[in-house]
Amino acid sequence: MSSLPNTHEVLLRNAHLLDGRVAILGLSDPGLLPQCPSAGLAMTEHAGVYKSMAPHTKWQQCFGYDTEGLSAGAFDTVIVFLPKARAELTLRLAMAQFLGRQDVNLVLIGEKKEGIAGGSKQFLQAVPDGMKIDSARHCQVWSGTNSQPYDAFVLEDYLEWTPITCAGVEVSVAGLPGVFSEGELDGGTRLLLENLAEKPLSGEKVLDFACGAGVIGSWLQGHRRAAGDEPGVVDGVDVQAQAVACARATYEKAGASGEIFAEDGLAGLNGRWQAVVTNPPFHSGVKTDTSMTEQFIRQVARHLVPGGELRLVANSFLPYEALMQQFIGPVQTLAQDKRFTVYRAFQRMPR
Ligand SMILES: C[S@@+](CC[C@H](N)C(=O)[O-])C[C@H]1O[C@@H](n2cnc3c(N)ncnc32)[C@H](O)[C@@H]1O
Repeated sequence: MSSLPNTHEVLLRNAHLLDGRVAILGLSDPGLLPQCPSAGLAMTEHAGVYKSMAPHTKWQQCFGYDTEGLSAGAFDTVIVFLPKARAELTLRLAMAQFLGRQDVNLVLIGEKKEGIAGGSKQFLQAVPDGMKIDSARHCQVWSGTNSQPYDAFVLEDYLEWTPITCAGVEVSVAGLPGVFSEGELDGGTRLLLENLAEKPLSGEKVLDFACGAGVIGSWLQGHRRAAGDEPGVVDGVDVQAQAVACARATYEKAGASGEIFAEDGLAGLNGRWQAVVTNPPFHSGVKTDTSMTEQFIRQVARHLVPGGELRLVANSFLPYEALMQQFIGPVQTLAQDKRFTVYRAFQRMPR
């Protein structure tokens, strides 16, 4: 039995829709590609999925919403999988309207528990003659005509800037639909930044794991500069294409130094940092899921110099303290509010 996600199974159940050159937007499992009767373009905004698409060379592969090199109206069918963050559907539909030829089929597929009911209302604004054509495996399939094609789709047009201030240091943070905490400073991140202002990290070379829009790295360098210190380098890593694009834009505007890597976890990173700072992920889709962060805690010691520090903020109910103790070193609680706790652990020195 196949183990594709429900949305991908439902597309195969409606394989008659895959007509001519097909664009699939929001692929979450590359196992779908060899089962499709036709080929074309596959886009994912997840760095891990993007890497694992590589063997499927019949398909043009695209990481996120950067359409450089893609032409308007180049596809005969465009399939849109409903994104986990509803705001991101705006991007996917606009990209679909750009990639699809005039009057070809645009298709939206999504799970009920992930909000296809609301998503279909948004679909109908872009595709007024859209209709529900199937309902199976907890999913709905909507299809209609690309009667209002876009002749351009430029991701930068969707970029919005939010000024945030913490401990007297202001940074301007780039936002795109679907990026974590777009338009505001997350409460956990704020507690972490306040704590970093009180107890600065030592070390010139820092890694921000799960950097989102780059708020921690750009603020950290701004804070060091304001104190008259060398800003150092804060590299960042995130799995999501929009986060990577935003972090790069935030760094550029702030004049911050550091490379932003598009990676799923730490596995693709080489090197060691003097400190790793993070407000790590705790969701997978709509569910709480701590597995990514647990894996990060198990692996992070090998990316710290001996004696290097991990500074982590998390919802206080999440079970990270014992793991940090086991895999990094003795843990201190540095700050706490009603929801979040900031922990610190130094990597055990080799004996
Ligand atoms: C809680 S947010 C924090 C974002 C940012 N550091 C901030 O404080 O605003 C967690 C981030 O983890 C990213 N993420 C989720 N899974 C990941 C993974 N496997 N590898 C790297 N980043 C991941 C998400 O895209 C999201 O940007």
